[in-house]
Amino acid sequence: MLKGKHIVIGVTGGIAAHRALDLASNLVKAGVEVHVIMTAGAREFIRPLAFEAISGNRVHVDTFKAPPGWRYPHLELARRADLAVIVPATANILAKLACGMADDLLTTTVLAMVCPVLVCPAMNAYMYRNQAVQENLSCLRRRGFIIVEPSVGRQACGDEGPGRLADVAVIMERIGQVLDPPKGDLAGITALVTAGGTREPIDPVRYISNRSSGKMGYALARAAANRGAGVYLVSGPTNLEPPEGVKLVHVETAAEMFRAVMELYPRVDVVVKAAAVADYRPRVTATQKIKKEDDGLVLELEKNVDILLELGKNKRHQLLVGFAAETEDLINNARRKLVKKNLDMLVANDVMQPGAGFGTDTNIAKLIFPDGRIKSLPLMDKLELSDRIWDEVLQLRANAGQKDTAD
Ligand code: CTP
Repeated sequence: MLKGKHIVIGVTGGIAAHRALDLASNLVKAGVEVHVIMTAGAREFIRPLAFEAISGNRVHVDTFKAPPGWRYPHLELARRADLAVIVPATANILAKLACGMADDLLTTTVLAMVCPVLVCPAMNAYMYRNQAVQENLSCLRRRGFIIVEPSVGRQACGDEGPGRLADVAVIMERIGQVLDPPKGDLAGITALVTAGGTREPIDPVRYISNRSSGKMGYALARAAANRGAGVYLVSGPTNLEPPEGVKLVHVETAAEMFRAVMELYPRVDVVVKAAAVADYRPRVTATQKIKKEDDGLVLELEKNVDILLELGKNKRHQLLVGFAAETEDLINNARRKLVKKNLDMLVANDVMQPGAGFGTDTNIAKLIFPDGRIKSLPLMDKLELSDRIWDEVLQLRANAGQKDTAD
């Protein structure tokens, strides 16, 4: 499965650098063409000759010295690579990648890469827990780097905690998953999921928003990606880590969400609109912070576009799934929305019930269909509910396929 692939191993300066030799050896045995880039720090721990003996290729160390026949080492390496893996990744390389620096061959090459990049951190536990390191890791995750989490245990320096390089077997497994992803039952489907609440600015420091945590939308995106779908996640501001393998588009206002969703709409097969879009925005956004003067303040609001309604009006091949958060008369309100917005399914939940409100990890949903069917689901984890929703989407697609054939 890995045979014939080109993999660049970036080795940086940590005590775990010698474990990169095992990785290189395993990859070569699997038939991979391995090119190694070593930073100056890495060369303090291991001599390039060790990697040359294993990979059969010269080790790359210099941005300005190209091997014979190559013009620019960083571009040649980036162009050929099916995947790059940085092992071990020190706190320093994480910071440089997060800043987009290009001050040596490894950072410059990674900037030029369009292939997946795996990053395998290894460092002292206190360094690993440091907020700067954690923020750099979050930033890299957001940008699509795949982080192979370090393991926890006793470290070379004597400290205990997280920061030991992941096992080479685990790194090999992740490489396999990335280069040959598991084919799930949603493979071949492109899904667009919206998540979180929108923020409608009042002035530079204040906004109107709602209690949405984004958890439902993120769970839906995660479940779809796990089952092999291509997933765009258009998200309002949240505190959540984006699921792996999902293309994340950050938005803030309803207007931004509308633009992002409409741009992606023609390319997708299914839209699941879990976002809690603000229905209104301040008519005017003050350019300066509003100062308190009188006893009261009147804000004039104007209506935001109803994104789902617009999607319903412009529906072609797509399946549309809406959400309805209600506090009373759940079924009737939900049915009205289903019809008005031209949906194929509506996930209704009574947010007044314990376990179904905003910010929880669970939900209690009723799935409502245009043919009048209602499926009442018990309290369940949002990831489990997501899987139930995707099961229904698959069923709806199968039904639509049968109908097309009959027509
Ligand atoms: N929705 C949307 N754009 C809006 C408002 C809502 O796309 N401006 C979508 C939500 O993402 C959700 C569905 O419409 O999937 C239902 O949202 P909800 O707020 O419950 O319904 P509304 O139509 O806004 O009705 P109301 O607020 O009156 O209950």
